[in-house]
Amino acid sequence: MATHTLSENMTKELEPSLDSFMRGNNLDCPKMIIRYALTHDEPALRARLEWYAEQEGIVLTEAMCDESCSFPLLKISRKRTRVLWQGEEIFFHPSMALLRMLSVLRGEPDRFLQAAGLENGNTCIDATMGLAADTLMAAWRVGEAGRVTALEASPLIAALVKEGLREMAASVPSGVRGLKAEAWKHLIQAAGRIDVLLGDHLDFLRAQGDACQDLVYFDPMFRHTRGQSAALRSFKPWMCHEGLREEAVREACRVARRVVLKERTGSREFERFGFAMEPGGRHSPVAFGVRIKKELIPYVFPESR
Ligand SMILES: C[S@@+](CC[C@H](N)C(=O)[O-])C[C@H]1O[C@@H](n2cnc3c(N)ncnc32)[C@H](O)[C@@H]1O
Repeated sequence: MATHTLSENMTKELEPSLDSFMRGNNLDCPKMIIRYALTHDEPALRARLEWYAEQEGIVLTEAMCDESCSFPLLKISRKRTRVLWQGEEIFFHPSMALLRMLSVLRGEPDRFLQAAGLENGNTCIDATMGLAADTLMAAWRVGEAGRVTALEASPLIAALVKEGLREMAASVPSGVRGLKAEAWKHLIQAAGRIDVLLGDHLDFLRAQGDACQDLVYFDPMFRHTRGQSAALRSFKPWMCHEGLREEAVREACRVARRVVLKERTGSREFERFGFAMEPGGRHSPVAFGVRIKKELIPYVFPESR
């Protein structure tokens, strides 16, 4: 078993990580200590624990198992993997993506897909994966010949979602039929086209060649919580709250022919980064902004004028 049993010194050294995560600046503190527990001592559960132990940015420990301990607890059961912390629990479930897939199959428009303008065979970088609802929709839209790379700065979210996407077929409730069964099928196929990477999207974008992607998508944490889903709210303490940086937008513009930003309706970030507002969603708390290649060339960032 590759998990670490931490020495007192190492624990002290890593302890500030929890603080940093709670302040939302996990870009500065990419390691997280997590306690673990298995509900049953079985090979399948031990294999899943082993997989978590191998995930970058996560240090698993059984050293501090008393309930007063402030580190989150990774609980692996036959049904799912949960993280328990301060009376809250989080786990991956593609519920938002499922609802959106059902709407799309009914012929209703999806505002993200409209803004994204993706086509069969396209490639896309989702620079802020979160719970991967948008990632799954993008991966569905690009079809079998397409590919989506999803960046996530939080080791805990990256690992939970990576496992959730891999094991998606096992989450399908028994007896699902009709359109719901079709929606699940599409999501399972889409999940297979997603590469989840842990890290800061700026580092990743810097390493990409010019014009090598069809889309880069940013959905950073809003400075205001209005318009955020309930599911997202319980994950919030573990997410990275850094605002979008000018250099990341600039790099995205170099790397892709189209860049999309999701923000709170009325956010000044659209103007600040030169995004044209997408029409629609007049009464929605969220809006999408788009920059396409031909608009990018003459644009000069206000700060560099
Ligand atoms: C609002 S959520 C994205 C929600 C997502 N679009 C969905 O459909 O579930 C933003 C996510 O981006 C991550 N994030 C923020 N800054 C990042 C960065 N610089 N690099 C990678 N991920 C980042 C946060 O940790 C968080 O999980």
